[in-house]
Amino acid sequence: MASYNALNNNSGSSPYGSGDPFYNESTGYITPQPAAKKAGTSPWIKFGIPVAIVIIIAAVVGGVVGSRHSSSSSSSSGASGGSKDPAAAASSAASVKSALGRYATATNSKYMVPIYPSTTNAAAFTQPTFVASSKSAWPADPFKPGTPSPTTVRDDRPRLFAPSYKWDALANLVQTDPYMKGWNDTIFGNATDYYNKPPVVYFMDGDSGILDNAREVKQRLKAFAYVYRITKDSKWVDRAWNEIQTAIGPTYPDTDKWNTAHFLDAAEYTSAFAIAYDWMYDMWDDDKKATIRNAMITYGMGPGLSVYEGGASFGWWSSKVFGNWNCVCNAGLTVGALSILKDDTTGTAEKLLSHTIQNAKDNCAQAVTDDGSWHETPNYWYFGTTGHAEMASALMTATGSDYDLLTTNTNYWKTGLYHMYISGPTSLYDYGDHGPNKFSSTANCMFLYADSYNQPTFALHQRDRADAAEPWSMFWYDPAVSGAFWDQLPLDHFFDNDLVQWGSMRSSWTDQNALFVAIKAGKNQGHETHNDLDVGDFVIDALGTRFAGEYGSADYRSPEYFNSDAQNATRWLYFRKRTEAQSTLMINKDNQNVLAAPTIKHDTTGEKQDSSTVYTPPKTSTAFFTMDMTSAYFQATSIKRGIRMLNGRRQVLLQDEIDAQAGVQWRMQTNATITINGASASLALDGQTMEVQILNPPSGAQFSQQAAERLSSDPTPPVPDQVNPGVSILIIDLPAGKYNLQVLFNPQWPGMSSNDFVTPQNVALDSWSNTSHN
Ligand SMILES: *[C@@H]1O[C@H](CO)[C@@H](O)[C@H](O)[C@H]1NC(C)=O
Ligand SMILES: *[C@@H]1O[C@H](CO)[C@@H](O)[C@H](O)[C@H]1NC(C)=O
Ligand SMILES: *[C@@H]1O[C@H](CO)[C@@H](O)[C@H](O)[C@H]1NC(C)=O
Ligand SMILES: *[C@@H]1O[C@H](CO)[C@@H](O)[C@H](O)[C@H]1NC(C)=O
Ligand SMILES: *[C@@H]1O[C@H](CO)[C@@H](O)[C@H](O)[C@H]1NC(C)=O
Repeated sequence: MASYNALNNNSGSSPYGSGDPFYNESTGYITPQPAAKKAGTSPWIKFGIPVAIVIIIAAVVGGVVGSRHSSSSSSSSGASGGSKDPAAAASSAASVKSALGRYATATNSKYMVPIYPSTTNAAAFTQPTFVASSKSAWPADPFKPGTPSPTTVRDDRPRLFAPSYKWDALANLVQTDPYMKGWNDTIFGNATDYYNKPPVVYFMDGDSGILDNAREVKQRLKAFAYVYRITKDSKWVDRAWNEIQTAIGPTYPDTDKWNTAHFLDAAEYTSAFAIAYDWMYDMWDDDKKATIRNAMITYGMGPGLSVYEGGASFGWWSSKVFGNWNCVCNAGLTVGALSILKDDTTGTAEKLLSHTIQNAKDNCAQAVTDDGSWHETPNYWYFGTTGHAEMASALMTATGSDYDLLTTNTNYWKTGLYHMYISGPTSLYDYGDHGPNKFSSTANCMFLYADSYNQPTFALHQRDRADAAEPWSMFWYDPAVSGAFWDQLPLDHFFDNDLVQWGSMRSSWTDQNALFVAIKAGKNQGHETHNDLDVGDFVIDALGTRFAGEYGSADYRSPEYFNSDAQNATRWLYFRKRTEAQSTLMINKDNQNVLAAPTIKHDTTGEKQDSSTVYTPPKTSTAFFTMDMTSAYFQATSIKRGIRMLNGRRQVLLQDEIDAQAGVQWRMQTNATITINGASASLALDGQTMEVQILNPPSGAQFSQQAAERLSSDPTPPVPDQVNPGVSILIIDLPAGKYNLQVLFNPQWPGMSSNDFVTPQNVALDSWSNTSHN
């Protein structure tokens, strides 16, 4: 395996430009194949690590924990020291690693993002790698079938996600790895909380009414099963049984308890039961085993098979659905089938496996576009990738292969980049629907993907996140990963596939107060009916808060919410889905054209953060994203929009070049309190201020504001919209005409005086470049 550094120093023709850390010039692969990392099996913790690593870790401790280890021979001498004895080096490395601990000092900030300590010690955080490359901290799986088959499962239990050899290795890893130790403690705490609560109340609230229940039950059963396997205390099994019985209900087998009409619910329950069945297998007597199997088959897998063999109408998700539905449904059925294989006398499990794997490869795996974007939305990514990763992991552990679910889409791996770049300093650039409660859906697929796609950065990004502590992390995370995700990570990334077309630009990866701008063009259709009419929509984070933001989902139970994304769809009558509720231009107070096909341009001066958590981009550092979005409007000759960072990434310019035959509104959605003074506005939020100014205002152009409510001229939706308390819309209203509208955003950074802000010159969007505004 080439090191991250070697990849990074190559120059050549990466699709993302030279210096792309994810492109290997020598092999021409975007990323090494998943098998690459699995070559060696000597865990560094057992057998030692290269001296160079010890030196680096020694320097880390020197910089971060000061003199605490000054008496230890291998860690006292900073960058020039280091033991030559491998055994001593190994034990020293282990103690050094636990001394350094977790990088983030907290994850419970307002936005639940990791808070990193400020340090300019360049040695403190090093480039992402798997320590002792090609070695995993985990032992190799002894189950290595020569010709894997989906219906030939390993003999030992558990067979799903974490075979016994992993449980055997766990105690040692928990002892030496501070992340795993922390997660283990949190899982025990969470399991204890769940233990003391009554079982999840079975509550079917309508057509999609049992999905939250299913995911909450899954979250609990995972935790109970995990703690049982470590403590071997049967009280956890009894408590799990209680949860299982509630989910089956007293009327078994008379009703469709798991809501097959909305098959996600049935799939998630099946998956939950499968985990309980497999991880606590040795504790269930034959009656209980039969009860669990029968429930899975009656309520989940039997109906699932009728999708594949009987064309059941509720199986629409099995054909050309590039999104979370296909992933979650196939994953639940696959995990369920693998759990009962050999015990199932009905043949249901075997038959299902002959369908689900290929179906997921043709659909779920194609939910990632060739640039890594998720077809649906940044929040739906969680549901889809959790299903995909669970399915791949279950197949690999139970049968020894993923049957190319991970690689059939050769660009799938890039969805880890999508997740990292769509995560702003405060929160996701969360365009479109946000989805239901997550419960058992997390971003911990990033650990599996880090390992499978040899992208240590993914694991390093995820391990400091608030949702990292749950049982899957304990087995998907490889503690041989080392370094800081931000070291040599480009600040910006652009996603060019015409389905989403978006850009992510920031001033720092580690400063929660950083400037972050994300903007999208993209298509208004083709997102599994989860998007908004939002070409040109953007968010801005600065000073630790989100000044321009999103509303998220409208009410999922509103009539015809998901029926169609055609121009006349009922979906587009609901305020939050309409163009008026986006931070973009609206023309003639109307929705955008669903057939919009914008074109984009972008560039960046290409800075990468270094190992320090304290990073200030150079004054000339910039990035921009422009689009021609004329096709999104019915009454315009030309509409172009561009956004860029100015002044060393401390200010933002948004420019619109408009030629419209009807009235135009520039709109920005904000939680800030707005104070308007003609062509200037002051936005106050969370104790911070951002000044906004129209540059060279076209005649009559000034700011106004409205509450976040539908316009009185809008067509009436079948049910009233939700209220949006605290949200205001900052507006510039212009009659039909030709305009160059420039809006400057000046976050009021501490210590920055008014002279430090720049007023950019007027440059046509077509002439924007890396240097056009210097
Ligand atoms: C996880 O934490 C629990 C509770 O603190 C502890 O008893 C257990 O030994 C830990 N697990 C492992 C594998 O070390
Ligand atoms: C798990 O425990 C952590 C730490 O106490 C807490 O922050 C988190 O909310 C808990 N998660 C759940 C799902 O209860
Ligand atoms: C307003 O704040 C809420 C709560 O943090 C958030 O969910 C929402 O996205 C914000 N809305 C906007 C328009 O920024
Ligand atoms: C939209 O138009 C199509 C085609 O004319 C029609 O079949 C459909 O019922 C319309 N939908 C709505 C919600 O009006
Ligand atoms: C902008 O700067 C980056 C980084 O130096 C460079 O790769 C790119 O080619 C520049 N763009 C142009 C058009 O020169």
